[in-house]
Amino acid sequence: MRMYDLIIKKRNGAALCKEEINFMIAEYTAGRIPDYQMSAMMMAIYFQGMTKEETCDLTMAMAASGEMLDLSGIEGVKVDKHSTGGVGDKTSIALAPMVAACGVKIAKMSGRGLGHTGGTIDKLESFPGFSTGISTKHFIEQVNRIGISIMGQTADLAPADKKLYALRDVTATVDHMSLIASSIMSKKLASGADAIVLDVKTGSGAFMKNKDDAFALAKEMAVLGTRAGKKTTAVISDMDQPLGNAVGNALEVKEAIETLQGKGPADFMELCMTLGAQMLVAGGRAESAGQAQEMLGKVIEDGTALSKLARFIEAQGGDAAAVYDTSLLPQAPIVEEIFSEKEGYVEKIICDEIGVCSLLLGGGRETKESQIDLSVGLILHKKVGDYVKAGESLATIHAGSKEKLTAAKERFVRAYTFGQNPVTREKLIKGILEGDKISQS
Ligand code: URA
Repeated sequence: MRMYDLIIKKRNGAALCKEEINFMIAEYTAGRIPDYQMSAMMMAIYFQGMTKEETCDLTMAMAASGEMLDLSGIEGVKVDKHSTGGVGDKTSIALAPMVAACGVKIAKMSGRGLGHTGGTIDKLESFPGFSTGISTKHFIEQVNRIGISIMGQTADLAPADKKLYALRDVTATVDHMSLIASSIMSKKLASGADAIVLDVKTGSGAFMKNKDDAFALAKEMAVLGTRAGKKTTAVISDMDQPLGNAVGNALEVKEAIETLQGKGPADFMELCMTLGAQMLVAGGRAESAGQAQEMLGKVIEDGTALSKLARFIEAQGGDAAAVYDTSLLPQAPIVEEIFSEKEGYVEKIICDEIGVCSLLLGGGRETKESQIDLSVGLILHKKVGDYVKAGESLATIHAGSKEKLTAAKERFVRAYTFGQNPVTREKLIKGILEGDKISQS
């Protein structure tokens, strides 16, 4: 078999068979197919697409390109959760302890990633001493003991995807539905959970800018998971404005803690409740979403979700005292308000622009090598639909230097649009999809 012939075949619009896809992925992972040929293949796929069969074969080949984690040493149903990402998305930090406190085992691998803020792993490192670089043995032992662990993705988890994703990133081939679906699902399938709950974002701060594309991506991923024998559910949620109020690593951790104390922003709480309910149902702990939500409400009210977070942080070497005293989290030296010059209803917040503010403050990575400043970011005080008087604070900025503060402030003013008429707020949850059964909100 020759890669050259496979490129021609795909370029001309034909479907690749399983043997061809297995060959391409195995040889590329082993370094015997060069990046320039794989780039041509990715571009051919970008324009010609893939059939469901090809997408499934590609996903399985990438999942099997490294170690497939064996979680059979953990008793009970293991449920994983994945978000397609967005601005202010700190969901795992509150959701994982909530679900674990209700008795579903959380054995989750997470990434750092490029973006406006760090990934879950970076955010968790806001707890002084916390480490996600633990061994698989420690990971499994911890989940059996306290019901929760989050570790960094091992180098051997779907290495084909790691190489391909980096290549797609520099060849303008990331934003293709089947490539995104197979990339995400290959890592999820290799991570060994029994059930997967996906949070597929839609809006200006998401990969999928429109709702139809988000539903299509959710469906594609749910079908891939179901075919691989995993119970897969997808929640499609709004990312047309940041989630919650906090954007920035330690600030988001603080907001997740407040949410576990029952004092979180309403939209973030709603998302945690919706995803958590799906996880409890998938994990066999609840018979219905309604029953699951009651259980989740109870573990927040009686403090068991918060103490589960503290035990989790401590088990991975972190300072659990920061769960109860958030002044122990990284603090930025400069804290300033941004006052509104305009008056009216917030019509729109360009989510990406808020993300760029966080990046300019140093809260995210522009390249894999960039260092993140965990202390910086923004707290939004006004969201879409809120009325703002001139001179009122729109947001508080936490910065490491005057220069970065000025750059972020200049960018911030581009994000908000005001109008004189009341604005109808978008629904946060757009729909839920189980296998290929859709319920739209
Ligand atoms: N996240 C991934 O892991 N892969 C993609 O292709 C896009 C987002």
